[in-house]
Amino acid sequence: MKLFDVYPLNNITIISAKGSYVWDQGGVQYLDMYGGHAVISIGHTHPHWVKRIEDQLEKIAFYSNSVVIPIQKELADKLGRLSGKEDYQLFLCNSGAEANENALKLASFYNGRKKIIAFRKSFHGRTSLAVAATDNPSIVAPVNETDNVIFLPFNDEEALKACFAEQGKEISSVIIEGIQGVGGINLANESFLQLIRSLCDEHGAVYIADSVQCGYGRSGKFFAHDFAGVNADIYTMAKGMGNGFPVAGILIAPKIQPKHGMLGTTFGGNQLACAAALAVLEVMEEEQLIENANTNGGYLMEQLKAIPELKNVRGRGLMIGFDLPEELKDLKKKLLFDFKVFTGEAKPNVIRLLPSLALSKKQIDEFLTSLTEAIDELKGQPNA
Ligand SMILES: Cc1ncc(COP(=O)(O)O)c(C=O)c1O
Repeated sequence: MKLFDVYPLNNITIISAKGSYVWDQGGVQYLDMYGGHAVISIGHTHPHWVKRIEDQLEKIAFYSNSVVIPIQKELADKLGRLSGKEDYQLFLCNSGAEANENALKLASFYNGRKKIIAFRKSFHGRTSLAVAATDNPSIVAPVNETDNVIFLPFNDEEALKACFAEQGKEISSVIIEGIQGVGGINLANESFLQLIRSLCDEHGAVYIADSVQCGYGRSGKFFAHDFAGVNADIYTMAKGMGNGFPVAGILIAPKIQPKHGMLGTTFGGNQLACAAALAVLEVMEEEQLIENANTNGGYLMEQLKAIPELKNVRGRGLMIGFDLPEELKDLKKKLLFDFKVFTGEAKPNVIRLLPSLALSKKQIDEFLTSLTEAIDELKGQPNA
């Protein structure tokens, strides 16, 4: 049987990994500044994470949500404490799209409304509502098309006010990434998030903070949305939550009350996924990885800003992007194949850096050396 060929692949086979490095089958080492698409939060194959999963596996990997699963409560308590949202409620699922799907659905159950406000360049996933709220028509199938999603320009306060003034009674939710990832590392303005909060309060709409990519400490705060100093009603989480183990969830404000059968999933919250997620939080706390993302991310950003060829260096913590001039459009490939460094990209010419939150200053310097050499080579000025 053939694989369904939907991914444009780099011809590299990674067979092992440790911290911020991965190795291919020929033993070649790569520095991972991409974190397997922002997924690696505590570092590849962290020993505590491996041990916790192994120990859990020997006891029980899965039993359904028809019985009491104490490790879910343990995870909820730890997550509440580290995120500072102790009074929120946790619903566990399996992927970022599923988290957003549940958030949008829950908002609609809550206020009985249908309209969703989303923003230009957003990415919320590929399932039905999540993809309908994603600003990329090429991945929206005809069956996903709906009039219920209104797209507004990102950070445009006047457009948001006008939309609420006109359709406020119909708006169920506003969904926004604190830092747009797939869209190219675009930061939501603090005043924009504050305005979303106040308009949602005024009109009975639900503020959904898509934290699938920018959350879980990556920005230097637990949620990138926290920089605005206001709470969302629902936070969606996935990528960094399991450090590569598939686990996702939503944090739900106390005012949204559960009802049996309202949401559900077979695999969500299974014992093994919870063990992986707990291991991530334990390491984040023990190794102070949010602080590390803040400090080392700040250092990396400062150094990148000093490289004149890189335009519009932006981001927070270890979620950083910059624009490339036309002459450097092959930088990502050059870094990967000639300098053995993984980075991410966004179309047309943006490099995205989404490394493990445990990335060290030494590894940052290693990256910067490769980056400047790659730039020189692309400009036809090899280092002496
Ligand atoms: C902000 C954001 N939301 C949702 C998703 C979808 O997550 P998943 O691929 O786990 O369904 C992504 C994935 O890149 C994302 O970046």
